[in-house]
Amino acid sequence: MPIHLPPISRREYFKRSLLAGAGLVLAPNLLAADRRTDANSWALMADTHIAGDAAKIARCINMADHFKSVSRELLALPKRPAGAFIIGDCAFNSGEKDDYATLTDLLDPLRVGGLPLHLTLGNHDRRDNFQVALEVKESASHPVQDKHVALLRTSEVNWFVLDSLEKTLQTSGSLGPTQLDWLVKSLDANRRKPAIIQTHHHPVKGENGNGLKDAETLLELIRPRKQVKAWIFGHTHRWNVSQDESGIHLVNLPPVAYVFQAANPSGWVHATVRRDGMKLELRCLDPTHKDHGQVVDLNWRTS
Ligand SMILES: [Fe+2]
Repeated sequence: MPIHLPPISRREYFKRSLLAGAGLVLAPNLLAADRRTDANSWALMADTHIAGDAAKIARCINMADHFKSVSRELLALPKRPAGAFIIGDCAFNSGEKDDYATLTDLLDPLRVGGLPLHLTLGNHDRRDNFQVALEVKESASHPVQDKHVALLRTSEVNWFVLDSLEKTLQTSGSLGPTQLDWLVKSLDANRRKPAIIQTHHHPVKGENGNGLKDAETLLELIRPRKQVKAWIFGHTHRWNVSQDESGIHLVNLPPVAYVFQAANPSGWVHATVRRDGMKLELRCLDPTHKDHGQVVDLNWRTS
């Protein structure tokens, strides 16, 4: 089951706000629904770590405030991105129902602003609570049992969103043979456009690290499939861009929430795709951070 949250109407938002007793405090943001969309612009986010208590502080930051700052920036862009991804560790620590209730509230301004949202899970999420809170419906599109996978076809690239949650609160993750089999079949059936893969967990060598345990299997499968141009992940809470030996770009998103090392930035990444590559712009929560606004231009390996 893919987790796509479509935009919601202002009417629906007003209804929800009234039911929640939240009033219309976010009303100015609703103007953003009138913006034109840039079909090649995407917001990339990871590690939001939203707690049920929106006032909760962890590692010296308030996670809800960080998310609201990113949300405000997205709603203020001159052109609306075609969509936003949040690739796991959506919840604070153990994927509680309250975490997702607060997350749902925080996502609403983006949805009413006309932004489609695509989410997947990390090791601090819980699949059952996530599914109920975000009203993920059982649907005919159910390619991998108990995993939230998605193939999002767009004009310039195909996005493959994978689910690497193996066990809540277990730091490492895995995709598993069934999901890898789905990925291979889906890649082989969609060769003509560049493919970008997204997981929560980062690549590691062997099974003993804290990242994706079957990363080497994944890389063996995607290296010869030349349509795969990039693999995007979160989990380490550390912004970094590199390239593997076959030319696949490895993009480690910064956390929207807290960092583990003070020098690293929190933030999000504004991606602009084109047929032969992708521009990444780092948007830091702290606009005085030395890396704020850093642009990395990725060129796709040849097919
Ligand atoms: Fe995280």
